[in-house]
Amino acid sequence: MFAHGCAGIQSTLEPTGAEARQIATLFWVMVIGGSVVWLAVIGTLLYAARWKGEPHSAQSAGRLILWGGAIFPAVVLMALLAYALWLMPSLRPQSGEPPSAPLRIEVTGEQFWWRVSYRSKNHEASIASANEIRLPLGQRVEFVLKSSDVIHSFWIPSLGGKMDMIPGRTNRLSLLATKVGIFRGPCAEYCGTSHTLMAFYAMVMDPAAFDIWLEAQSQPSEELASDGKLRFISNGCGSCHTVHGTEATGTLGPDLTHLGSRESLAAGILPNTEEAIRRFIADPDVIKPGSKMPAFRMLPEDDLQAIASYLKGLK
Ligand code: CUA
Repeated sequence: MFAHGCAGIQSTLEPTGAEARQIATLFWVMVIGGSVVWLAVIGTLLYAARWKGEPHSAQSAGRLILWGGAIFPAVVLMALLAYALWLMPSLRPQSGEPPSAPLRIEVTGEQFWWRVSYRSKNHEASIASANEIRLPLGQRVEFVLKSSDVIHSFWIPSLGGKMDMIPGRTNRLSLLATKVGIFRGPCAEYCGTSHTLMAFYAMVMDPAAFDIWLEAQSQPSEELASDGKLRFISNGCGSCHTVHGTEATGTLGPDLTHLGSRESLAAGILPNTEEAIRRFIADPDVIKPGSKMPAFRMLPEDDLQAIASYLKGLK
């Protein structure tokens, strides 16, 4: 199930981030605290059920119920509540707080994909991407979360808690990754027909490799002499999509500048292959119902193939 995250790359119980570790600890403390209350209440019940002979004192029965059934559970539950409240501020930076992290990643939820832009202290302008998030190991990253249409929710279970993306509001989340790897993030709020087809991969990289990657992302893709590019432009793809360094400057759809370097396609649902790109261009509404991209199945096969190959080549 998408929303549960029970193992491997999408697991709240195998934390690979500082925040996720706190949440996992909170979970286990709650499980242990709840079990202690359960044992006390069931123990009291069994003791009372096996009470033989006449109730030698109504007073001691009353005491048992008071301590085992009320005071003890109340004390344990209050302690758990206090622990959770104490933990909460560290998991949720207040909005309006000045950004403390050197790297900010703005993620905007769209039906049904993720608009991503990076702003780091080394780069003046923000760097646009989509449907994939890369972050450096061991460095705090501030996420700025928005929505352009309906409520979505941003969640990388392995790294931290989830945060809603609400139209007209800016929410913030701060994450610190503690393990290199690829982790999956599902959209965690029902947002329409293709809600379950809205996911992304978060890649935690060695900081040096991340800096090199970010620098490469700030540049246009290597220019490919291909007729795919001409067909991409002449079919009007550039009115919705941007490919830096070309006439394609649309902003309605995902930025495709370095599409070929992404791990997956169409918000985490397809492998990034030429064939998958071709299929998506031809039938986006079949692969992702409710997608705002019009279908281009009327294009000649040559066009589809050439455009797919051009996009796959945008490293
Ligand atoms: Cu976006 Cu659910």
